[in-house]
Amino acid sequence: MKILVINGPNINMLGIREPGIYGTQSFQDLLALLKQTELETGIQITQFQSNHEGAIVDEIQKAYGIFDGIVINPAAYTHTSVAILDALKAVAIPAVEVHISDVDAREPFRQISYAGMACIHTIKGQGLAGYRQAVLYLKAYLQ
Ligand code: DQA
Repeated sequence: MKILVINGPNINMLGIREPGIYGTQSFQDLLALLKQTELETGIQITQFQSNHEGAIVDEIQKAYGIFDGIVINPAAYTHTSVAILDALKAVAIPAVEVHISDVDAREPFRQISYAGMACIHTIKGQGLAGYRQAVLYLKAYLQ
């Protein structure tokens, strides 16, 4: 089983950006957690991070026929990107949306998720652990 984990803009700044909201763990810590999840589950996990909307659309398109599932934190593009929504719909790969923070408890504009409309499940407010939960959710869904 192959899962692609996609992270949108500023996720590479974890540990530095707004620690009161996103915590003190770094992006490297997230990569280590994904590696640990890979060893634990036997699932092949590939991580892609970009600050650019089109690059994320390209990566979703490239996943077609290669990956069995997608875990996606589109970050700020969650709330704006019809292009990412359409790309997820186009490839029709089962996708789980992750948000590190509890977006429902934040500004009203964060409560709209375009990408989420193409996802089978959403995990929010669980910190970095949400990524592991998303992989486990996809594993159970795909088996
Ligand atoms: C986020 C929440 C988004 O609203 C925000 O723009 C992010 C990160 C999260 O993981 O909590 O960059 O997706």
